Amino acid sequence: MTTAIYAGSFDPITNGHIDIIKNASKIFDKVIVAVAYNANKNSSIPVKDRVEIIKKSIINIQNAEADSFEGMTVEYAASRGASVLIRGIRNTGDYEYEAQMAQINNVLNPNIKTVTLFSKPELSIISSSAVREIQKNGGDISEFVPSAVLEYYTKT
Ligand code: COA
Repeated sequence: MTTAIYAGSFDPITNGHIDIIKNASKIFDKVIVAVAYNANKNSSIPVKDRVEIIKKSIINIQNAEADSFEGMTVEYAASRGASVLIRGIRNTGDYEYEAQMAQINNVLNPNIKTVTLFSKPELSIISSSAVREIQKNGGDISEFVPSAVLEYYTKT
């Protein structure tokens, strides 16, 4: 059984992320969507709420689940018995960053391999920070995020 970790900030999760999770769930036996505590990023939604939003957004993907972790992604992956890290690539800008991270993670734990999946062109323009910016300024984010994100913003 192959378990894959899809780690990220997911602040908030977007339809671009959901597309990657759906594709990964067709390839791997289990996909764990893991919210990383990232001290370098100013977060807007608390990690606990991000996990709850993800749970609601992936409810129809039978072999996917949501979690959070602190520290190194490879260590978390090993602790969950995962041998694959999923990353999504939207454009050439993502590629540079992803290649470096995959290479570093490979040095840190050669038993854990990074698999990159490419975004659909129509989803490649989405980023969490763009969603936050539009939402903050009263714009319509419904094209970009799952309904659980809209519900969250409506309640808070
Ligand atoms: N659809 C939509 N948006 C996408 C996307 C997709 N398919 N793929 C990436 N993005 C966006 C995210 O929305 C996010 O946007 P933002 O910067 O506007 O908020 C951006 O791309 C970065 O994505 P994210 O997956 O959140 O990356 P990250 O750089 O914040 O975090 C970790 C990546 C958590 C996996 C990484 O930092 C990590 O592993 N941290 C733990 C420490 C560690 O082990 N480091 C590894 C050694 S280098």
